[in-house]
Amino acid sequence: MGLMKKDFIIGFLIAVTVVSGIITLILSIVEVQNVLLPGSIKYGIVFDAGSSHTSLYIYQWPADKENDTGIVSQVHTCAVKGPGISSYFDNPSQAGESLKTCLNEAITIIPSKKQKETPVLLGATAGMRLLREQNNTQANQVFDEISKTIKQYPLDFRGARILSGNEEGSLGWVTVNYLLESFVKYSFTEEWIHPNPDQTLGAMDLGGASTQITFYPSGAIEDIDTKMFFRLYGYNYTVYTHSYLCYGQDQALKMLLANLTKDNNFSSPINHPCYPRGFSQTISLKDIYNSPCVSIPSSYIPTQNITVNGTGTPAECKSAINNLFNFSACVTRKMCTFNGIYQPPLHGQFYAFSAFYYTFSFFNLTSGQSLSIVNETIWNFCTKEWTKLQVEFPQENTIRLGDYCLSGLYILTLLLDGYKFTDQTWGNIYFRKKAGNADIGWTLGYMLNLTNMIPSETPVTVKGHNSSIWAAALFFIVLSIAAGLVALPLFCWLWNKSSTF
Ligand SMILES: *[C@@H]1O[C@H](CO)[C@@H](O)[C@H](O)[C@H]1NC(C)=O
Repeated sequence: MGLMKKDFIIGFLIAVTVVSGIITLILSIVEVQNVLLPGSIKYGIVFDAGSSHTSLYIYQWPADKENDTGIVSQVHTCAVKGPGISSYFDNPSQAGESLKTCLNEAITIIPSKKQKETPVLLGATAGMRLLREQNNTQANQVFDEISKTIKQYPLDFRGARILSGNEEGSLGWVTVNYLLESFVKYSFTEEWIHPNPDQTLGAMDLGGASTQITFYPSGAIEDIDTKMFFRLYGYNYTVYTHSYLCYGQDQALKMLLANLTKDNNFSSPINHPCYPRGFSQTISLKDIYNSPCVSIPSSYIPTQNITVNGTGTPAECKSAINNLFNFSACVTRKMCTFNGIYQPPLHGQFYAFSAFYYTFSFFNLTSGQSLSIVNETIWNFCTKEWTKLQVEFPQENTIRLGDYCLSGLYILTLLLDGYKFTDQTWGNIYFRKKAGNADIGWTLGYMLNLTNMIPSETPVTVKGHNSSIWAAALFFIVLSIAAGLVALPLFCWLWNKSSTF
């Protein structure tokens, strides 16, 4: 009799443990699903309004992990049809209109419940910097029209403005290092670790109208105009950054054409050493001299057309490119690139993205090829005949195909003669488009900064849903042991009581 009752109690206790185990399991699954439910996801939208085109990026992250590193992912990108917003200076309402297709797309992707709280930011770069220089009123009109358009959408519009060159460069640096988790990492031992700031990666961005270089130098920064300070996750970072206005690809091409036409007294045709032999193009002088990056000559007829014939001579092309840089302004100065611009000694590894990447990717030179292979590949391309190139690269847009020799040699000049990379340090450059799941550029850094998503101090909370599942499991294990401890004397008492009958 007594033995059976004891068996019953033991059986009952096992049942309690099993049931609470199942409850724990169910709750863990619910916990995991909670993390994945759309209810806990937040979104952000950033427009990158560059000189030649505008792109929209949609990011998302789990709401409860807002201050962790590396949790923001890129959900969608949309390329705005048409030119950059600065091209709408004489028709500003069209600038707003041009963004609608991508905005319409965005609101089909972001759940309607989430739209009101989704920040939308628009940052414009060198194209608008140049327009502001030329005509501030027109630049403001473009922004007014853009703001009008975005405000028609049920989103949280946070403004449209021009980023300074220093912001553009350093936010690219923030993006790269956030994505690679080089600020702070959550280790497998569940501790926050701070990699040495020396291990942050430098960032090099090549756009249409400007180019930026940003890195954490090994020594002091002597020119305060090139200094940017960040306090991120409890650590201080002072980075060197400089943006070279007019040294983006498209503007460099214009400066080069302006020099060549001037040297030829504005008569047509002109020989262009950077275009392939057999390549010919007719352009109006107005299209060269409409930019503040080139000085307008005293005697020229804007409506005049000029025929440009390629000669495919890389050595001449190289020296024509060299003339765009004022290296003599650095002869008497130490730590100087060109045009008298200060730069501390290069330090660490670098990600080179945007047009650096696209150009090198065309040449198949993004997997760490040596400098001699790079030189050989580009020079070899430059000497190829236009008809042969068209056969060899049938899928390539003809305008772009004609520009690759120039782009390739321009990048080499900028990196080697300008920034002073050498044979020895060339291997520190990584040509990349993405880091993890997101495109590299200033946009993610801009959103992280404006939404305060990178805390200045180290997070103290326990991270990850794994930990919370374990916390929940531990809680239920303790609870079931406690239940068992309470139940045991109770059943002993009941058993004693029943055995007296
Ligand atoms: C980051 O945001 C703050 C305002 O929240 C602003 O003052 C600062 O200039 C921003 N940093 C960059 C690099 O844009």
